[in-house]
Amino acid sequence: MATDSPVTAANRAPADRLVIFDTTLRDGEQAPGCSMTDREKLRVARALADLGVDVIEAGFPAASDGDFASVQSIAREVRGPTICGLARCGEHDIRRAWEALEPAESSRIHVFIATSPIHRKFKLQLTQEEVLRRAVRGVAMARDFCGNVEFSAEDAARTEPEFLAEVLSAVIEAGASTINVPDTVGYAIPGEFADLIRYLREHVRGIEKAVVSVHCHDDLGMAVANSLAAVEAGARQVECTVNGIGERAGNCSLEEIVMAVRTRADRLLVDTGVNSTRLYPTSRLVAAVTGVHVPRNKAVVGDNAFAHEAGIHQHGMLRHESTYEIMRPRDVGMDSSRLVLGKHSGRHAFRDRVTELGLDLDEAELDRAFIAFKQLADRKKEVFDADIEALVLRSDADQSGPWRLAAMNIRSGKGTVPSAEVALVHADGETRRETAEGDGPVAAAFRAIELATGVDARLRNFDIRNVTVGGDAQGEAVVTVEHDGRVYQGKGFDTDIVEASSLAFLQAINRICSTGRVHPQPDTQNVAAAGSA
Ligand code: KIV
Ligand code: ZN
Repeated sequence: MATDSPVTAANRAPADRLVIFDTTLRDGEQAPGCSMTDREKLRVARALADLGVDVIEAGFPAASDGDFASVQSIAREVRGPTICGLARCGEHDIRRAWEALEPAESSRIHVFIATSPIHRKFKLQLTQEEVLRRAVRGVAMARDFCGNVEFSAEDAARTEPEFLAEVLSAVIEAGASTINVPDTVGYAIPGEFADLIRYLREHVRGIEKAVVSVHCHDDLGMAVANSLAAVEAGARQVECTVNGIGERAGNCSLEEIVMAVRTRADRLLVDTGVNSTRLYPTSRLVAAVTGVHVPRNKAVVGDNAFAHEAGIHQHGMLRHESTYEIMRPRDVGMDSSRLVLGKHSGRHAFRDRVTELGLDLDEAELDRAFIAFKQLADRKKEVFDADIEALVLRSDADQSGPWRLAAMNIRSGKGTVPSAEVALVHADGETRRETAEGDGPVAAAFRAIELATGVDARLRNFDIRNVTVGGDAQGEAVVTVEHDGRVYQGKGFDTDIVEASSLAFLQAINRICSTGRVHPQPDTQNVAAAGSA
């Protein structure tokens, strides 16, 4: 049983250092439609390490065997940041968290319990005394395994400040080195949240031994503002996610907090260890992996974040960029991300681009991706970054479950009933062929895939968009399906949108199969929701 982790910036923040605790893979991933496969999580974790975050919250190991495995593989393979796992205050959760984290170079167990009156009464049905007792016991138990323990008082922003101070004092005494103050429901407003942090810094016993952390949700659009207010009041860790993904309206956005702290260092007087030029590539990777796209006008990483349309602005910019620009695109890694490759680009150029995009590939993956790149470059004049991301993710998707699309034949046109014939190959070598009709070619293809796999996947949402511009652009399809009460997502990329849609649908089915919770398909057809697409 290990009891000590190396002391890093993550568990001892100097006065001017703001610890960046990334929870994209835990709080971000648990948001509907943001789920990732193990390979995707590992890819994102490596990108976060390159970005220079201090802590990666890799998941909630006790939540499922899948969560456990992905936290464990990140703990084994990702070096640099501290790897953290979430746990409730019970023994099973804490033990599972430690088992998953054990291979990490530097690890943290993050235990939490809700402290607010609403949660105590309706969710936990526990008294203040019992919540306090469980919090202390959870932290003490976690400390038996790991020298670096964080405690979170869930719904802290709606907890009585006196009780919150009492709980936090007790958990510091029990060994927590980071105490986190979550605004779980995004209810706080900046001045009030800053007052709470100041109050805690005055009233929590032993506060000087711990890093004060904040974790803000964005229900009122104030997650970043509340986090910054807390930093001004003395918080030295911010919990955040790439692109602000997360439950409901999301979490504090990593790129916004990092750039705010950097741009306004004059006032905030803290700095982070983040390499800001990796912000844009990391944002793109998370968007591509989750299928949750970044709005064009999103601060820091939106495509229009540095676009100047108004003539008067353009004029000012030509005179001097500081007239209308408080950050430069290159500060967030935007300018170097616009290179275009073509069919004459060699393996070297391709490898450089892949690395620049944060797509950490081993030699075998690089070989596969390069072949796919050459095939795409034959069909498309220019291959953009988004195309490269798409083809790497497509190759990840091909390995996300037992089924692979071997062939597809679509018949559709005016006056004909659309039909699709698919051939799918299973990992055990069997090939299954099925033909089906539908209101449109996509619906027919989905139905044929359902028949061939025998998996009933009720279509919940279906989105299609261009990955890049131009008539030869690849299409990206994102499909959300429901199976046995659970929601699964799949993505597919191809220059042919029916094929992109079918790959997305098949990926969702592969994800269902990988959970081992497959229910046989009922007789009735249920993919009519694809409409006449
Ligand atoms: O929002 C929240 O309170 C959380 C905690 C588990 C930190 O995500
Ligand atoms: Zn949260």
